[in-house]
Amino acid sequence: MMSSSAVIEVKDVGMTYKTRDGRSHTALEGCNFDVAPGEFVSVVGQSGSGKSTLLRIISGLINNTSGEVLLKGKNVAHSLRELAMVFQAPVLLPWRNNLDNVLLPMEFRKAVTPQVRAYAKELLEIAGLGDQATKYSYELSGGMQQRVAICRALVSRPDILLMDEPFGALDAMTRDTMNFELQRIWHETRQSVLFVTHSIPEAIWLADRVIVVGDRPGRIVADIKIDIPRLRTREHRFSEDFTAYERQIEALIGTPGAIS
Ligand SMILES: Nc1ncnc2c1ncn2[C@@H]1O[C@H](COP(=O)(O)OP(=O)(O)O)[C@@H](O)[C@H]1O
Ligand SMILES: [Mg+2]
Repeated sequence: MMSSSAVIEVKDVGMTYKTRDGRSHTALEGCNFDVAPGEFVSVVGQSGSGKSTLLRIISGLINNTSGEVLLKGKNVAHSLRELAMVFQAPVLLPWRNNLDNVLLPMEFRKAVTPQVRAYAKELLEIAGLGDQATKYSYELSGGMQQRVAICRALVSRPDILLMDEPFGALDAMTRDTMNFELQRIWHETRQSVLFVTHSIPEAIWLADRVIVVGDRPGRIVADIKIDIPRLRTREHRFSEDFTAYERQIEALIGTPGAIS
């Protein structure tokens, strides 16, 4: 991969927080990786290893204390980037129907056109929610609400979609369904995705590459290409190749029992 064509370049990034009692805490140290256009990259690591810190730095929510992040070749602080973020909780506005929730970011930009409305409907269709456009979030399950939130993140056609444990609050079965749905949506839209999770199988199943974050301080201990064909099915989940990737990553971050 040519680094000049990367949508995200993380170069020697470190983050040392100043805590309220005046001490400092190094959450990340010397992180390096790229994300290519259209690539799906997972970031996996134990709780507290600095995954959310990394995503917050890339999104520009906080400033790294060393190194630099380039988005489409430009410094995060200066770039007119197109980023969208999906968090653990979907936070939809209860007084708006689902289509209007999806359109919200475009309304903020005063950019709702008939084409945008059509794309919002198409996204709901792709997400399996074509018949839910005029329903309200309280009429949907948690998994459906999170799919609406994903559509909302995609409606502006961002260069990159950042997802921080988006399915962490869902039960295991719904989570599996969501992984299938997300793969399908990504396969259609081909947006670059950086997906944070503490679940090793989820990280592998979704990704072209898995970045493994070790802790204390958080640093990248491996960057593993996942050679499993698309579209992936349940069978891939239990294939020999898959299990080998799982073992490899478990060995890198330890205590597999502590990770679902
Ligand atoms: N605002 C902050 N101030 C001080 N320490 C923080 C802050 N945010 C996170 N941390 C610390 O940085 C480390 C990494 O946190 P985080 O990025 O949330 O990890 P993860 O998302 O992998 O669970 C943790 O030890 C956490 O306590
Ligand atoms: Mg986190």
